[in-house]
Amino acid sequence: MNKDQLQADSAMLAEKDSDFSKIIDAGLSRRRFMQGGATAMGLFLAANPLTAAIAATTNPKSKLLGFSKIPTSTADTFVVPEGYIAKPLISWGDPILKGAPMFDESGRQPASAQAGQFGDNTDGMTFFPLSEDRALLAVNNEYTNYKLLFDHKGDTMTADDVKKAQAAHGVSIFEIKRTADGWEYRKESEYNRRITANTAMMLAGPAAGHDLLKTSADNTGTKVLGTFNNCANGETPWGTYLTCEENFNGYFAKPGVALNDHEKRYGLKDNSKYKWFKFDDRFDITKEPNEPNRHGWVVEIDPMDPSSTPMKRTALGRFKHENAAVTIADNGHVVVYLGDDERGEHLYKFVTKNKFNPEDKAANRSLLDEGTLYVSRFSAETGEVKGKGEWLELTYGKNGLTKENGFNSQAEVVIYAREAATVVGATTMDRPEWVAVHPKTKTVCCTLTNNKNRGKKDNQPVGGPNPRASNKYGQIVRWTETNGDNTATTFKWDLFLVAGNPTIHKDFYAGSANIDDENMFNSPDGLGFDNDGRLWILTDGSYSNEGDFAGMGNNQMLVADPETGEVRRFATGPVACEITGLTFSPDQRTLFVGVQHPGEKDKPSHFPAGGASKPRSTIMAVQRVDGGIVGA
Ligand code: FEO
Ligand code: CA
Ligand code: CA
Repeated sequence: MNKDQLQADSAMLAEKDSDFSKIIDAGLSRRRFMQGGATAMGLFLAANPLTAAIAATTNPKSKLLGFSKIPTSTADTFVVPEGYIAKPLISWGDPILKGAPMFDESGRQPASAQAGQFGDNTDGMTFFPLSEDRALLAVNNEYTNYKLLFDHKGDTMTADDVKKAQAAHGVSIFEIKRTADGWEYRKESEYNRRITANTAMMLAGPAAGHDLLKTSADNTGTKVLGTFNNCANGETPWGTYLTCEENFNGYFAKPGVALNDHEKRYGLKDNSKYKWFKFDDRFDITKEPNEPNRHGWVVEIDPMDPSSTPMKRTALGRFKHENAAVTIADNGHVVVYLGDDERGEHLYKFVTKNKFNPEDKAANRSLLDEGTLYVSRFSAETGEVKGKGEWLELTYGKNGLTKENGFNSQAEVVIYAREAATVVGATTMDRPEWVAVHPKTKTVCCTLTNNKNRGKKDNQPVGGPNPRASNKYGQIVRWTETNGDNTATTFKWDLFLVAGNPTIHKDFYAGSANIDDENMFNSPDGLGFDNDGRLWILTDGSYSNEGDFAGMGNNQMLVADPETGEVRRFATGPVACEITGLTFSPDQRTLFVGVQHPGEKDKPSHFPAGGASKPRSTIMAVQRVDGGIVGA
C-alpha cells in the first residue's frame, strides 16, 4: 500500500464525510465497528463509504444460497462443500482426437501428439447440449507453461517445439456424456476438434480486407491462421461459441527496431518469452508488421460443425479481450459486453444493427459483423460508490474519431480501438475481466481484478468505480441500463462488492461490508450468473497467504446473492492455481469449473493425480450427492 496515497484519500474522504452521513448511520457494520475499537478508528471507518454504503444492502438471510460455506485452504486439492462431490473431467494432454496418444509427462511428446490432445491451461468454456445425456464442451486453452510442456523447460527451442506450443493453445471441442458415475468425455467422438494457433480462419466485419490486415501470406486481409491466448468466452443465442483473444501481444517480437505508438499501446515488445518468432516469421514484426493486427479479436465458432471456419468478428474491436457476455435486449438487438484486461484500459459494449431472429438460425450468423461499438465513461468523483455513466460511440466520423485525430475509416477505429477509446474520453478501469448479465433483471456486473497503477499514473486517478489507490484486491462494479434497455447509452452504476482483507486492514483495504474474515478473497476474475441468478465469482489472485493476503489461501470460487449482497465460499483450488472457466448443464445439476496452472512457478503441486505426478490444468465436474441444483 502507498501510505501517502492512502492519507490523501482519507483526507479527501473526511471532507466528503457529510455526503455519506445518512448511509453511514444506516449501514455501518457493527461487527467491523467493534473490531475497530478506538473512537479514532470508528471515525475513520465512518469516512469509508465502501463499508457504509454496501453494508446497507447486506442481509445474511439468502434464499438463493443453500450450501455450507467452506474455509480457505492451502492444500493441494480441490475442495467443495459438504454434500458435494468434484471429479476431474479432463486434463491437459488427455487425447481427444482419433489416434492421439495418451498423455506422457516426460515432456518429450512431439507437436503431432499435442495437436490431438486437450490443450493446456483450461479457461472459459460453454456447454452445448446434444441431448439430455450428451453435450459438447467448447473450452479455451489460454496459454502453455514451457516448464511443464518440455523436458528442456523451453531452454533449447526447436521448430517442432514451437509447433507443439502452438498446438497447446487455442480451443478444444469434445463430446461429453452422462453416465452413472457422472459426466465423462468421449475420446474420438466425430464432434471432437482442436483449434490451435495454426487453424485457418477468416476475418469478417469492418476491418476485413483492410491494408492493415494484409501480410505476405494473405494479400486479401481476410485469411488468418490461428487463435491464441484465448482467455474467456461467450455463447450466442444461435448456438455458437465466442472465444476471446487476450494477451496476443506476448507472442510477437520486434527485435532491433523501435516500436511505433500503435504497437506500444497494444503492449508489443522487442522480445517474446514464447520464442515463436525465432522459427515462425509470422511472429517477427520486422518481417510481418501487420500480423499482430490480425489478433486481439473475438472469434465465433460453430461447435456443432467440426469442419466450420472460425470467424474473427472485427466489429467488436481489437484489444485484450477477456470475455464476451451476450444478451438479447428487449427490442431484439443483441448486446455484447466486453472487457479489455489491462491496467487503465476500458470496458466496451457492442450492439448489433439487426435483430436476433429466433426462427432462423442461419440469419443470425453475421449479426456480429454490423453494429455499433461503445466504450464506457463512469462518473468518477472520489468517494462515490455509485453514480451515472454513459456509452460513448466508437464510430468513424463521430466523437473526434476523424482524420485530424488519425482515424481514416471504421476499420482503423476497430483495429486501434484502445486509441479510439482514449480520444472519446473513456474511463480507465482497474483491469476489466469478465462481464456477466443477470438472466432476469439484465443488470450487468464486471470484475475489476486489481490495478497497482491506480492513483500512480496520471491517466488512472482514484475515483468512481476504481476507488482505491494501488488496488491489490479488486472489486465488482454493477450497472443497470436506463429503462432496463441493454441498448441504452446511459446507465446507473454501483459497487456490488469491494474485495479486501479485514484481518489486516481497517480502512478501504478491508473491503466492503459484505466481506469479512470468513469469505475474503482477492482478484475476482471469472464471473457468471446461473439461471437462478446466483453470481459465481472465480479468483486469479495472490495465493501467497502472507502479508496483505494473509488468511486468503489458494485461489477459490465464491457465490454471491445479488439481492442481499451475501458472499459465500464454495470451492478452493490446489496449490498455485487459478480458478477460471465455468459452465452449467442446463438442469443446473452439474457445474463445470476449471483449475488452471496448478503448480505454476515451480510451486509444489501434483494436482490432480497426486503422488509425484506432474501438475495439469483440469476441468472439474461438481455435483451434489443428492442430485440437487448446485449452489441451492
Ligand atoms: Fe486471461 Fe484477464 O485473464
Ligand atoms: Ca481471466
Ligand atoms: Ca486475471
